[in-house]
Amino acid sequence: MAVLQSFFPSSIVHCSLCVAPGILQRNRPLKEELEKIREECEATLSLAKTEPEVSEIRVRVMGRKGSLTQLLKQLGALPEVERKEIGRKANEVKESLEARIEEVLLQIQERERKESLAKERIDVTLPGRRVATGTRHPLTQTLDEIIHIFSRLGFEVVEGPDVELDYYNFEALNIPKGHPAREMQATFFISEDVVLRTHTSPVQVRTMEKKKPPVRVICPGAVYRCDSDPTHSPMFHQVEGLLVDRGVTFSDLKGVLTVFVHQMFGKETKLRFRPSFFPFTEPSAEIDIECFICGGKGCGVCSGTGWLEILGSGMVDPAVYRFVNYDPEEVTGFAFGMGIERIAMLKYGINDIRLFFTNDLRFLKQF
Ligand code: FA5
Ligand code: MG
Repeated sequence: MAVLQSFFPSSIVHCSLCVAPGILQRNRPLKEELEKIREECEATLSLAKTEPEVSEIRVRVMGRKGSLTQLLKQLGALPEVERKEIGRKANEVKESLEARIEEVLLQIQERERKESLAKERIDVTLPGRRVATGTRHPLTQTLDEIIHIFSRLGFEVVEGPDVELDYYNFEALNIPKGHPAREMQATFFISEDVVLRTHTSPVQVRTMEKKKPPVRVICPGAVYRCDSDPTHSPMFHQVEGLLVDRGVTFSDLKGVLTVFVHQMFGKETKLRFRPSFFPFTEPSAEIDIECFICGGKGCGVCSGTGWLEILGSGMVDPAVYRFVNYDPEEVTGFAFGMGIERIAMLKYGINDIRLFFTNDLRFLKQF
C-alpha cells in the first residue's frame, strides 16, 4: 500500500478512483466522471512497476467497491436514454481499461523476465571453479623417490616395528648395555627392554634373522629420539639399506650411494665420504653433500663447514653377523641409514624440519 501511495499523488487518491458510494459529484455529468476515471487509471497504470501494484489498481477501479463499479450502480437512477448512452460509454471505458491493464501486465512480465535472464546469465568464458585436491606430503614424495631409485638398483622394501626390543635396537647391533655408543642416540624407553626405535637399523637384524644371503633391502619408517631443534625432530623418518652377498666391498657401497645422491640431487651435486664411527659397521663413513644454501662457502646452516650430512653408512661389522648366524668368512656387506627429512630439506631448500609436522597448508601446498 505504501508503494501505491507513493505513485498516487494525494490529489488523485482522494478523487474519483476511490470515491465512497453516494459521494459521486452529482453535479458533474457522469460522462465526464467516466473519462476522469479512465484518465486517472491510465496515469497510475503507467507508473505501476510490479504485478501486485497493477492488481491493486484494478481493484480500486473495477473491484466491488471500485470507482467504476460504484459509478455503474448509479445508472439505474438515470432516465432510459441517458442510461443507454452512459452504459455504452461505461462498457467502452471498462473494456479499454481492462485491455490496458493486460498490456501493462504483459510489459511488466516481459521486463521481469528479461531482468532475471540478465541476472542469471551464464558466462561460459568464466574459468571453472577449481576442485581443491590434496597433494602428497613432501616427505611421502621424497620417500617415494628414494624407494624408486633403490628399487631400480634391485633393492626390496621391508618394514619393522616402531616399538622395538632393546635387543634389536642396540644389542644385536653390537651395542651392549652400558656401552657408551648408546649415548649417541637419546632414547625414549618404554621399559627396560623395550624402546621406541632410535633408528631403522634394527630392521637389518630382523631381516637377516629371516633370510639367508644374498640380501638387498631398504627399510623405511619412523624413528624417535629425545631431540628437538631446527634440524632435529623427536619423531623423524629414516630409510635403512642393507646389501649382503659374497665379495661385497667398500667400493660397492661408494658406487651405490654415489648413484643414489646423483639421481636424487642431480649429477652435478658434490658429495664426500667422511670417516665416522658406528658400532655395527667397520669401516664407517658419513656422506655429506655440498651445502645448498652457501654452495660450499660455509654458512649458518652448515655450521661454516660447507657440507651437510645426509646419511651414515659402513661395511657390516662381523660382530653383527654372529647374532644372525651369517658366516663373516663367507659373506660381506654394507649398510646405510639416511634421514628422509634431511634429504627433503636439501632437495626443496627447507630450513626448519618442524615445518613438515605442523600441517600448515601454505607450506604443504607448495609441493
Ligand atoms: C644412524 O641412525 C645409523 N643407524 C645410520 C647407519 C645405518 C649407519 C647403517 C651405518 C649403517 P645417525 O644417528 O647419524 O645414524 O642418523 C642417520 C641420519 O638420520 C642422519 O644423517 C640424519 O640425516 C638423520 N637424523 C638423525 N637424527 C635426526 C633427527 N633428530 N631429526 C631428523 N633427522 C635426524
Ligand atoms: Mg650422524
